[in-house]
Amino acid sequence: MGPEVDAGSEQTRRTMLLGALATTACLGCSTGARAGEDPPGSDERPQKGDLLVFSDGDREGKLVTAADLKVGAPPVHAWPKDPNTSVVRSGSRLNEILIIKLDPAELDEKTRVRAVEGIIAYSAICSHAGCPVTAWVKSDVGDKVVFKCMCHNSEFDPRAGAQVVFGPAPRRLAALPLALADGSLSIAGNFIGKVGGAQPG
Ligand code: FES
Repeated sequence: MGPEVDAGSEQTRRTMLLGALATTACLGCSTGARAGEDPPGSDERPQKGDLLVFSDGDREGKLVTAADLKVGAPPVHAWPKDPNTSVVRSGSRLNEILIIKLDPAELDEKTRVRAVEGIIAYSAICSHAGCPVTAWVKSDVGDKVVFKCMCHNSEFDPRAGAQVVFGPAPRRLAALPLALADGSLSIAGNFIGKVGGAQPG
């Protein structure tokens, strides 16, 4: 009986150890970076003059240019990048940005003023509970295609300053002014509005 108990305990210990390792590995995967290894500046908010790089997909880490954006196509997900140090500011998930190009005629006046050739940028972090806004889909309450957060279905209209058109989000997504020079996009100022929302739970 004794050896059986020992074997069981050993099995339990091994299972727990493997579980702990899996959890650790998963945390590393989800952030794309290991804790404590982010270079200085990577968790600072976007700064004026920062460039933009793809945050996911085949071109992750490559510069986003105006040519990468097509009118009405799904938004590009991006990180700011310090042009002086080449540090990508991916150390904080609150820095992820959605960049989209729309027909300027569709934009409301305030949004049009901020757009460069129809290109506009917003925080990718939902103002409800801080999930990433991942979808570009037809609205539940109209014919327009909108940004949608799949956590609790909040929808935001990028043509109107990313105001909330559906769901529990309490306010619009923060906007990020852009500049365009010779086809290169850069950040022209700080976020306008609060980034993210209350933490889940
Ligand atoms: S976190 Fe986006 S709708 Fe709740």
